Amino acid sequence: MRSRVVVSLLFLVSMCCLGFSNVYANDIDALEIYAEKCALCHGEDGKGTSTGIDFGVKDFTDKEWQASRTDDEFVHSITHGNPDNDNYLPFGDMLSEEEIVAMVPHVRAFAH
Ligand code: HEC
Repeated sequence: MRSRVVVSLLFLVSMCCLGFSNVYANDIDALEIYAEKCALCHGEDGKGTSTGIDFGVKDFTDKEWQASRTDDEFVHSITHGNPDNDNYLPFGDMLSEEEIVAMVPHVRAFAH
């Protein structure tokens, strides 16, 4: 009986620690951000939705296109949008710099 209490206490304590460590580790969920803020145009599969394609998105699964763009260019475009394309909104106000940087490997992963 007593050991059961100890075990459940330990469980509670570890759940608490896990919760806190998530906050402190500043875990960025690129998957969730993508689903919420990017998939609308870029599609769950990275190829672009019909709306996105109308707006001029590129196919993220296209290896040649990926190779033609640097990580810095991605960060810059996600932050500032494209001044020549009104349909590409800047995300600099909506996402932190860390979140934007975290989106780059997620975008790259579509072409792997
Ligand atoms: C309203 C539609 C829309 C949404 C939402 C959107 N994008 Fe885009 N995105 C575009 C368009 C259009 C382009 C093509 C811009 C161009 O090259 O003119 C683009 C281009 C890009 C590029 C290529 C940039 C480059 O330098 O070639 C990346 C990377 C990208 N988007 C990532 C994201 C991420 C990450 C999100 C979510 C945080 C996102 N996009 C949300 C429309 C969108």
